[in-house]
Amino acid sequence: MPVITEIEDLKRIYRRRVPKMFYDYCESGSWTEQTFRENSSDFDLIRLRQRVAVNMDGRTTASQMIGQDVSMPVALAPVGMTGMQHADGEILAAQAAEAFGVPFTLSTMSICSIEDVAAATTKPFWFQLYVMRDQEFLEGIIQRAKDAKCSALVLTLDLQVLGQRHKDLKNGLSAPPKPTLKNMLNLSTKWGWGMEMLRTDKREFRNIVGHAKGVGDVSSLMDWTAQQFDPRLDWDKVAQIKEMWGGKLILKGILDAEDARRAADLGCDAIIVSNHGGRQLDGALSSIRVLPEILEAVGDRMEVHLDSGIRSGQDVLKAIAMGARGVYIGRAFIYGLGAMGREGVTKALEVIHKELDVSMALCGYRDVKDLDRKCLLIGPEFARYQQMA
Ligand code: FNR
Repeated sequence: MPVITEIEDLKRIYRRRVPKMFYDYCESGSWTEQTFRENSSDFDLIRLRQRVAVNMDGRTTASQMIGQDVSMPVALAPVGMTGMQHADGEILAAQAAEAFGVPFTLSTMSICSIEDVAAATTKPFWFQLYVMRDQEFLEGIIQRAKDAKCSALVLTLDLQVLGQRHKDLKNGLSAPPKPTLKNMLNLSTKWGWGMEMLRTDKREFRNIVGHAKGVGDVSSLMDWTAQQFDPRLDWDKVAQIKEMWGGKLILKGILDAEDARRAADLGCDAIIVSNHGGRQLDGALSSIRVLPEILEAVGDRMEVHLDSGIRSGQDVLKAIAMGARGVYIGRAFIYGLGAMGREGVTKALEVIHKELDVSMALCGYRDVKDLDRKCLLIGPEFARYQQMA
């Protein structure tokens, strides 16, 4: 096994192990992928201020997100089809997150169901909701998340219609993969993945199959999204869902100060500044670039979290120092999962933790909760984009 020192190492192994269709599903952005690329490259525009001769002993990355203790302020983002990246993927990632002391968020579009993950973990996880047209299904899945004792609902607002990823269409993405010649040829080179898949009975969208009535082929994520996701989702509906849920609510996919104010008016517990990892509106700004103005608008009214583009502990440090209370990783943990299962997710978390801890020390901080903008150096290229009059 090669020595793993960074997230990129996990990505290389992941690419070799997992069928091309699922690698492409993860490693794509919408259309030209500009936003996908800038989510990461914009972090490079922020530099860190080195400080020396500061006592570095007794450091801590422990913090809180929405009042819950976390060993570092990094949660696992909801990722659809995680159980296709590795057999039982959601269960393994949830177990790794639990052992590490960080939150795991289960996607509505997961392979393992809410009940599967609840049965395999001992602490509450978070549940991410996509709003469907079918009210009965919606009420049912919220109730199931309550029954499973999920400790937060993460309501995603930026995917009522689907941004196009060219490769998913060309690959005919589905769960499980269809037995076409092209797929069979590719799968024949991924026997490690295949053997594990044969050992599990979890190979379809188990939050949906058997729970939603009168739906046709659920195997195609894209078709199902187009048919079932409710394009009428608006702030009134968000308020209704808040009422139905009654617990901690995090709104995901906010990228604009005006929307952030609406979210704060609604009284949610946190927002996630996110462009869905560059998978929805191509041409949207990176999350880290809009973070300052969103903090300015609502930072004193609720917790502001961020995702999209985080690949290292240094990225985490930059977002937290800027003022985010927590961040989420999507692809970074999927690389680990696809490469090495549960152990790989732990590895991804360890890599990021170490980078965060050491970089924090070299900036002259001992406690992640003390990080502030004084350690950030920002040049003119990070300037604000102006809204056109
Ligand atoms: C996602 N994301 C996502 N978000 C969500 O709310 N529900 C979902 O089912 C999914 N599915 C999904 C699949 C894949 C393959 C990816 C890569 C992402 C978005 C995810 O929660 C998060 O916003 C991004 O992944 C963050 O960007 P990075 O960390 O991947 O750059």
